[in-house]
Amino acid sequence: MYSHLTIAKKYIRYWLTASNKKGHGVHSPFVFNFITQLLNNKKQQPSFHSIESHRSILLKNKSFIEVEDFGAGSSIIKTNTRRIDKIAASSLKPKKFSQLLYNVVSYYKPNTIIELGTSFGITTSYLATANANAVVHTFEGATKIAEIAQHNFHLQKIENIQLHQGDFSQTLPAFLKQNQAIDFAFIDGNHKKKPTLDYFEKLLSSANENSIFVFDDIHWSAEMERAWEEIKNHPSVTLSIDLFFIGFVFFKKDFKAIQHYCIQF
Ligand SMILES: C[S@@+](CC[C@H](N)C(=O)[O-])C[C@H]1O[C@@H](n2cnc3c(N)ncnc32)[C@H](O)[C@@H]1O
Repeated sequence: MYSHLTIAKKYIRYWLTASNKKGHGVHSPFVFNFITQLLNNKKQQPSFHSIESHRSILLKNKSFIEVEDFGAGSSIIKTNTRRIDKIAASSLKPKKFSQLLYNVVSYYKPNTIIELGTSFGITTSYLATANANAVVHTFEGATKIAEIAQHNFHLQKIENIQLHQGDFSQTLPAFLKQNQAIDFAFIDGNHKKKPTLDYFEKLLSSANENSIFVFDDIHWSAEMERAWEEIKNHPSVTLSIDLFFIGFVFFKKDFKAIQHYCIQF
């Protein structure tokens, strides 16, 4: 992981060079629409309040749980006995990003949604409530964390989530064998280059030209930056949108040219 200072410098560079939120200078109608309809949509939906109250409860929970360590995120907390509030503070995507993912799902209406890395299921809940007709398949390795997520889905009465518990290296291939099309994938698990590229390749075999893949923490480390470079330059990717903390890739064939955007968010 880069130091805080390096990330801050990179963030400033990103902010100074990225397209602004008004879409000035963005010629692609698809990207202009993405900015104006999704990035700039700050409307609070009815489900947001309940999901955020679950986040607040987790952030106040000082109980310890045993956690199997799968991700590169373990550089923050080393022991396997961890406090729930600390995991919630370091692992969950901030609401600004979860709510953006809600907007994207609510707008494009993907049917089969994948999330690699459930944690306590906060972003999962956003994805699921954004399209009640979709099924969200979320993957988590740590047994206790998965149990807490499942309990949260139950308390919120969210029924379109299927949690697959176990190491991605086993659960993902098993899932992909049974399921053909993936319309939307949020890859937020093991933040290392090789596993990230591996998940990308695996998910790609089930993608179609309308699929949307979102990668978390693309500038978190040199490894993740190299993974992001390879992903966005993959021959099947026709558009990438870099928002610094997350990156989107699209596979639509009707764009006039391959485009890589960096946009302030
Ligand atoms: C950053 S958290 C996910 C946060 C969640 N997507 C959100 O936005 O609230 C990453 C999770 O992925 C899990 N994980 C990482 N590598 C894994 C692996 N190889 N197999 C299964 N789970 C893994 C970790 O246990 C952790 O709970």
